[in-house]
Amino acid sequence: MGTEVLAVENVAFRYAGVPVLRDVNLRVEAASTVAVTGANGSGKSTLLHLLAGVEQPAEGSVRRRAGCRLALLPQRTGDIDALPLTVAECVRIGRFRPRRRLNRDDRAAVTVIMERLDLAHLARRRLRELSGGQRQRALIAQTLVQAADVYVLDEPTVALDATSRRHVHDLLAERVRAGAAVVFASHDAADATLADRTVRLTGALGHSVGDAAVHHGP
Ligand SMILES: Nc1ncnc2c1ncn2[C@@H]1O[C@H](COP(=O)(O)OP(=O)(O)OP(=O)(O)O)[C@@H](O)[C@H]1O
Ligand SMILES: [Mg+2]
Repeated sequence: MGTEVLAVENVAFRYAGVPVLRDVNLRVEAASTVAVTGANGSGKSTLLHLLAGVEQPAEGSVRRRAGCRLALLPQRTGDIDALPLTVAECVRIGRFRPRRRLNRDDRAAVTVIMERLDLAHLARRRLRELSGGQRQRALIAQTLVQAADVYVLDEPTVALDATSRRHVHDLLAERVRAGAAVVFASHDAADATLADRTVRLTGALGHSVGDAAVHHGP
């Protein structure tokens, strides 16, 4: 068993009293991938928000290893379009730290991730002037350029063509080989087979956790 970075125990969550998740248990280990699957409205995004600390559980606990650095790619990212950001600026944000300039390592990481996600030729374009898939690649780059222990991505490849999807899967696999944990939500049964473990959400009715090799599909 690997080092535990996130632990979800007996978690329940409600929006304004309406139950969304109940009895969710999950361990996320370093150097492993977890897929969160389930139908629309089953609570995938909600569970990812709980993992990232954006929401707090009504019952149970979500524990993060001390000092754990977490990078989140949310499903809804429309707010960022209000900012006049270029693609390069959007990606650099992933490396910002308070009261510190980007250093050589930061700039190198930005260059590499932009090349890997075929964004270099779009560097000066405004985010809101991109196609849906181009924009999604820029946001994935902003997430993956971060030096994190856990990458939490909500349906990262949904708008992407097959080539871009493969690039993202390769990058995620590299992060895992380097010791990070990856948690991603997906409807796609094929995506879930890339994971070491899947959590299948079924609304507030109860959930199953298993091995990706055993549990396919949403
Ligand atoms: N801010 C909110 N306020 C009230 N209810 C919400 C809110 N966000 C989500 N819900 C409800 O919680 C349930 C779970 O939503 P969630 O977004 O977690 O599902 P999901 O599995 O990510 O769905 P999708 O596949 O469509 O992304 C849904 O019934 C949804 O209507
Ligand atoms: Mg969702």
